[in-house]
Amino acid sequence: MTLPVAVLVSGTGSNLQSIIEHIEAGRIDARITAVVSNKADALALDRARKHGLPARVLPHGDFPDRAAFDAALLAAVRESGARAVVLAGFMRLLAPEFIAAFRERILNIHPALLPSFPGIRGQADAAAYGVTIAGATVHFVDEKMDNGPIVIQAAVPALPDDDAASLAARILAMEHRIYPQALAWLAAGRLRVEGRKVRLAPARGGGDAAEAGARAAEGAAYLVNPPLEAGFF
Ligand code: GRF
Repeated sequence: MTLPVAVLVSGTGSNLQSIIEHIEAGRIDARITAVVSNKADALALDRARKHGLPARVLPHGDFPDRAAFDAALLAAVRESGARAVVLAGFMRLLAPEFIAAFRERILNIHPALLPSFPGIRGQADAAAYGVTIAGATVHFVDEKMDNGPIVIQAAVPALPDDDAASLAARILAMEHRIYPQALAWLAAGRLRVEGRKVRLAPARGGGDAAEAGARAAEGAAYLVNPPLEAGFF
């Protein structure tokens, strides 16, 4: 059954764009019921509208406190009929009530190899630290920031001359692959959380040899685990 999903955004929406394109191409069995932004000028809203998706602004500053904003956000997501939530560059922490309402049904993407470099400066912190491998993580959301069980990670090289922007761009290219892949797995009911671990059930029908070969070629440049499946690399 097609999974109804709400996407929460605050900014550019390039991950939203990638997810929309994979849904439209039939590679994710999901439909976006609402795109909600806490910022009125988020480019993500234009992207949503261009694809005929319901886009809504809930400016957090219009609410008396965090609880009131979170209650309105939860109501908007529920009213849309969503059964899962995707955080795509959404720059607010969710209230425990929100997380409890969608337990193990909220995905986030973080531009670092968690648990390294949590927080809002993941790429800059990694570049400044001098790591030689950086990356991105898709994880389930729990009450702590950038903490929940990990669904998929992708590693990319970090180069000596990288600054935050150049490293972020290299990471973002992989974000656009692993986030749709993670959502496809969630929509297909293939993810099961066991404590801190996420188990990925095999695809119905299994993969073929050509696909495995292509994945190996991809792995030579970038390490992604669990491996991307056909249509996502
Ligand atoms: C991405 O780097 C994501 O990892 C982080 O915020 C950024 C959002 O980019 N959480 P976009 O709005 O999807 O282009």
